[in-house]
Amino acid sequence: MSLAGRSIVITGAAAGIGAATARLAAKQGMRVTLADLDLDGGAAAVAAIERDGGMAQFVATDIAEEAAVAALVATAVDRFGPLHAAFNNAAIPSHSHTAAPADFADMPTVAMHRSLAVNVMGTFFCMRHEINAMLATGGGAIVNTASNVGVLAIPQAVDYIASKHAVIGLTKSAALDYAKRNIRVNAVLPGVTKSRMMEESFAKNPELIEWANSVQPNGRIADAEEIGQAALWLLSDAASFVTGISMHVDGGYSIV
Ligand SMILES: NC(=O)c1ccc[n+]([C@@H]2O[C@H](COP(=O)([O-])OP(=O)(O)OC[C@H]3O[C@@H](n4cnc5c(N)ncnc54)[C@H](O)[C@@H]3O)[C@@H](O)[C@H]2O)c1
Repeated sequence: MSLAGRSIVITGAAAGIGAATARLAAKQGMRVTLADLDLDGGAAAVAAIERDGGMAQFVATDIAEEAAVAALVATAVDRFGPLHAAFNNAAIPSHSHTAAPADFADMPTVAMHRSLAVNVMGTFFCMRHEINAMLATGGGAIVNTASNVGVLAIPQAVDYIASKHAVIGLTKSAALDYAKRNIRVNAVLPGVTKSRMMEESFAKNPELIEWANSVQPNGRIADAEEIGQAALWLLSDAASFVTGISMHVDGGYSIV
């Protein structure tokens, strides 16, 4: 069941859920390749893992650029050997390219394009190169970070919501295509979770804080580690018969 000694690529690993998962993976003895746009955050995340005795490297990567993703996977394989696991977690929030939240018809085209370029095409590029690396060495497991809004909606966020629905489509499609070739592909759907993305959303829209504290039936926001634990379980052999699922990790948000 152990993940010890296995190699994993984690995107969006400089902060939030990705950084927390990288720390947990390294504590379990995984060899961790962290990818992110944020060079300082990535270097700090690797330094923290190494201080704890873990093995990690950081590769500056824009997941929206396929050549960068190809180089990321090649660097992971070069340093840590066969790729066993991947956590495709990097994403941008809604209206990151607009001044304010916007109703559906007012969402700027540039925001739609950017959210789809990073959250959908970026995840697709990661999966393509990870799958090819895994096929070459006998298989592996992939987890993509979608969101509760991969199956639900919230107001004024069509760019993000459409992108997260698509991540679930990518997950199911790859799970089916590689089911007989020893690659499992699943998605985690976090509820509201403490992270830089959420802090930025709260700063832009303070009314969201009250909503966030009330929306999850268990009455609190998740810690990033709670999402990471679920992702690592899906990546482990304990989940050997689990593929194509969308696992809500949301304190019950999806049942109300
Ligand atoms: N925090 C929440 O409440 C919540 C809820 C549901 C889903 N999610 C999802 O969880 C994942 C992690 O988000 P988080 O909450 O930890 O946010 P975060 O902002 O703390 O982390 C996201 C990381 O992704 C990186 N990133 C953004 N664009 C990138 C790109 N093009 N290439 C490489 N890296 C890039 C950022 O630099 C950042 O370090 C995202 O997919 C997000 O959509 C978060």
